Amino acid sequence: MEDRMLSSEESHEDAAIELSLRPERLKEYIGQTAVKDNLNVFIKAARLRNEPLDHVLLYGPPGLGKTTLAAIIAKEMDVGFRTTSGPAIERPGDLAAILTSLEAGDVLFIDEIHRLSRAIEEILYSAMEDFCLDIVIGKGDTARSVRLELPPFTLVGATTRAGSLSSPLRDRFGVMARLEYYQESDLKEIVKRTGDVFGVTVGDESAEEIARRSRGTPRIANRLLKRVRDFAQVEGMDHIPVQTAHKALELLQIDRLGLDHIDHKLLQGIIHIYKGGPVGLEAIAASIGEESETIEDVYEPYLLQVGLLQRTPRGRMVTPKAYEYFGLEDIQRT
Ligand code: ADE
Repeated sequence: MEDRMLSSEESHEDAAIELSLRPERLKEYIGQTAVKDNLNVFIKAARLRNEPLDHVLLYGPPGLGKTTLAAIIAKEMDVGFRTTSGPAIERPGDLAAILTSLEAGDVLFIDEIHRLSRAIEEILYSAMEDFCLDIVIGKGDTARSVRLELPPFTLVGATTRAGSLSSPLRDRFGVMARLEYYQESDLKEIVKRTGDVFGVTVGDESAEEIARRSRGTPRIANRLLKRVRDFAQVEGMDHIPVQTAHKALELLQIDRLGLDHIDHKLLQGIIHIYKGGPVGLEAIAASIGEESETIEDVYEPYLLQVGLLQRTPRGRMVTPKAYEYFGLEDIQRT
């Protein structure tokens, strides 16, 4: 994927900042009220019963705080936190090694859980349900199955596409929580909080300017804040004047809805090449040179959310709002 200021995928720099910025407790976590309120009850109840929390599936677009929430769950449960990801677990032995090293009650976080292979998923079923692991030792006639007991644990899975999980795996999660794009007011608060962590004052107007252009995504808001802070710092400021925020975002070529050149290319491509659609995902991907999975998981959800794009049974279509947005109403009528 090309380097993109507005990518909601995590970069190395993000990983480093996010670690230091991450809220550690549910009460410090801004936004996602419905998910937070539910988790709060489930965590309290599990603690009262002295049991591990039921397995939790967090799903939704990237950059909304799934990893952060998983770490918070471990902290609130006062247990250990282990993380891995679907692509990192290649062989059954990889999963067995992780599961057998857990301590009772631990939270095991599997990011991109939809990318686990079927063979690994199948091992997970009994691990999740009965806290045991069936492994086959030996080959051919002498092969036999051995059952290993595991400590009770909580699996927290994260995915951008809950629909790609097999239903037996999905059914084994007692809690399913969908993360939504953040409200601007929540993002504003997050930007101010991050500013505090960085030791730079972000006034209301500057925070609003950044929040407005962060496509509902804290990871993007924090990244934009870092870049805007660079501009302010070079100007010798210890705070972020709104004019600087505005100018920086213009220079970063992020428009008033938070769209960048790739979003423009995608929407305008549909308008100019496909007469507004409907057009298949593969064709769009080919015309802008991106993977169709990336378009579906990363770019498209926000364009759907703001009503510039729609999905129909025959493919993707831009909406009248998209023509208006680009001042192309004339083309729409022809
Ligand atoms: N930083 C990133 N996401 C956050 C959130 N939801 N609450 C507080 N700080 C954050």
